[in-house]
Amino acid sequence: MPRGNGEYRKASLTLQRVNEMLEEQSRRIAHAVHDEAGQLLAAVFIRLDQAARELPPSCGTCFQEIKEMLELIELQLREISHDLRPAVLDDLGLAPALQCLTERVSQRSGLVISLTCSVPKRLPPHVETTLYRIVQESLTNVARHANASQVEIRFSHEGDLVRGSIRDNGVGFDLNEVLARKGTRGLGLVGIRERLESVGGTLSCHSQPGRGTELIINIPSGITNGDWLTACG
Ligand SMILES: Nc1ncnc2c1ncn2[C@@H]1O[C@H](COP(=O)(O)OP(=O)(O)OP(=O)(O)O)[C@@H](O)[C@H]1O
Ligand SMILES: [Mg+2]
Repeated sequence: MPRGNGEYRKASLTLQRVNEMLEEQSRRIAHAVHDEAGQLLAAVFIRLDQAARELPPSCGTCFQEIKEMLELIELQLREISHDLRPAVLDDLGLAPALQCLTERVSQRSGLVISLTCSVPKRLPPHVETTLYRIVQESLTNVARHANASQVEIRFSHEGDLVRGSIRDNGVGFDLNEVLARKGTRGLGLVGIRERLESVGGTLSCHSQPGRGTELIINIPSGITNGDWLTACG
């Protein structure tokens, strides 16, 4: 049923608020995982070293193995806290946060990812968060579904819009077939579109089997004057 303008605006605002609440929750959990669990692990490492000195050398291998497993847990906790809410996004802005994200995804997946991000150094928080989450979900999709080797990500600031493109050279897909899926439909693409619409943005998805996928994003930047600094070229 078509909705009136006022009703649509109300729904968009509600969605925007829900997203902000979820981000705040993610931020809190990310800090708890990173700071609290991280400090506890640091204390465990110190006690382990003390114990290793007091026990016979024959226990050395076993202690070393325990240390290596704990180091792996530490690494995984760091990854989880970064995925939940990267501090760099709040502290330094979109371009450095995307740089870190693409490096981590590249390491994990083997994808070659190029990033060009010519946007103001700082954008309003809801714009930075929206764009970061979109790239995060798009890269997850590429790694999971595309069988691609390369991804190109571009963001630019034109007038009062940020324009973005995320393009892979993978297997592509039939958008109509995906939209017609019943029951098992994923939430990623729908989530991207809803996130964008809630802040006045738009998404178009271009994909064909065998010809890769490109997502094109437009979002009001919230910055209208020309007085801004380019973050990275
Ligand atoms: N870059 C891509 N390359 C190939 N296929 C893709 C790509 N992105 C999405 N798809 C296809 O579109 C479908 C829908 O993607 P979407 O992100 O909405 O859901 P999902 O990834 O299957 O599940 P979810 O995101 O909820 O975990 C995917 O199942 C996949 O078939
Ligand atoms: Mg997905």
